[in-house]
Formats: sequence, structure tokens, C-alpha cells
Amino acid sequence: MKTAHFILIFCLLALASPFAYASDPSPLQDFCVAINDPKDAVFVNGKFCKDPKLARAQDFYYSGLNIPRNTSNPVGSTVTPVNVAQIPGLNTLGISLVRIDYAPNGGLNPLILTLVPPKS
Ligand SMILES: *[C@@H]1O[C@H](CO)[C@@H](O)[C@H](O)[C@H]1NC(C)=O
Repeated sequence: MKTAHFILIFCLLALASPFAYASDPSPLQDFCVAINDPKDAVFVNGKFCKDPKLARAQDFYYSGLNIPRNTSNPVGSTVTPVNVAQIPGLNTLGISLVRIDYAPNGGLNPLILTLVPPKS
């Protein structure tokens, strides 16, 4: 009898368990070209969106990933990021990439992030 109760309760709990559905919400717009000037713009995901009528092909373009970078540094590698900072049109699209150049002899991509202040 105890076993039957246990099985019945177990089945009821298993059937009553809530099913979880999770996904990213659909984007509200096709693109959101990031700009720094909030004038005439909408704030989405931490960046201001350029007025879509003012978006240009250049907002979705980056050139120079084909150019090998200088790897003469202590770790023998150079990371070239391409994200919303380089291509404003990538804002809210969840897309980014990097080019990593390694020195021919022992270039490493270390786990330790080295921040180099910009030259002024
Ligand atoms: C690469 O960087 C090193 C160190 O900054 C520099 O001495 C060298 O001239 C650079 N090489 C090129 C091809 O720019």
C-alpha cells in the first residue's frame, strides 16, 4: 500500500512539474546601428540606435581583417577584434569575431588579458 501511494505521488509530481521553455526574445527591429550621440536616437541594449533612415552601408562594413598583424610582442600573437565597436551595425545582432595572428615560432594566445593603454 505504501509503495502504491509512493508511486501515485511520484507520478502526480512528475506530471505536475512545470515544463520550462526558454529562448532569447525576438529582436524588436532588423538592425540597430550603434551611435554614441543620443540625439534623434533610441536606446537599446546599452547603445543608442541610429535612425534607420540614416543607416549607411558603411555602418555594416569593416576592412583590414586580411592584413597580417605584427606579432613581435612577448606572447607572439595579436588579437584583432571585430565587434560593435568596429562595425556599429552589429549592435544587437549578437555577432562578433576576431582575427588572431600567431608568430611562426611559439606564438601563444594566453588566457591572461593584457590591457594596453591607447597611445596618445
Ligand atoms: C613589430 O613590432 C615591433 C615591436 O614594437 C617593432 O620593433 C617592429 O618594427 C614591428 N614590425 C613591423 C613589421 O611593423
